[in-house]
Amino acid sequence: MRLTIAIDGPAAAGKGTISRALAQAFGLPHLDTGLIYRATGRRTLDGTDAMEAARTLSSDDLAADDLRTPEVARAASVVAAIPDVRAALVDFQRAFARRQGGAVLDGRDIGTVICPEAEVKFFVTASDDVRAQRRHKELVETGHDVELADVLADLRERDARDSARASAPMIAAPDAITLDTSHMDIDAAVQAAIDIVVDKTGVHPTAE
Ligand code: DC
Repeated sequence: MRLTIAIDGPAAAGKGTISRALAQAFGLPHLDTGLIYRATGRRTLDGTDAMEAARTLSSDDLAADDLRTPEVARAASVVAAIPDVRAALVDFQRAFARRQGGAVLDGRDIGTVICPEAEVKFFVTASDDVRAQRRHKELVETGHDVELADVLADLRERDARDSARASAPMIAAPDAITLDTSHMDIDAAVQAAIDIVVDKTGVHPTAE
């Protein structure tokens, strides 16, 4: 059987951690679709046209070591609002989602546009303050000198752009299960997600 898990939600809500843990638990491949937009946005910072960047994106672009910076996150959100850029990146994501056996994908439009037929859909969220604290900690730990207030403002600006765009806006699919991780640590959030997958599908983890 195929088990495809779609995970959407705003920045720094825990999507990435939960996605990786679910992929590991159920033995599925994982695609962080944000990385594709980050790699596209990253190339525009060098002056490449956004459409050209999306059309010619390579595995080297996806392996760049500076895709996690706030500047690249902002550029990703900007290119992600261009419908033609999204259209150029859709086939790869859809093909990944339809792999035999299934997959875990996380992003903003997975349950609504990329894989509306996913067996399980999550909308992972957390309060603005909690998300800003988590992202701030992550950035400081990786050597970035940033203020919490700036991180919070950046997240809000990016969420507003990602939610308000006309093309594939960030929104929970009608059949998505919302997981608010504001008051959960990583282990609790991952366990809650695993329990939901088991409940909905009857499929049990192959590893934990
Ligand atoms: O998940 P992330 O923070 O790495 O994503 C970076 C940006 O990419 C995000 O602000 C919006 C865009 N994005 C998108 O529009 N659709 C996706 N499926 C994933 C990311």
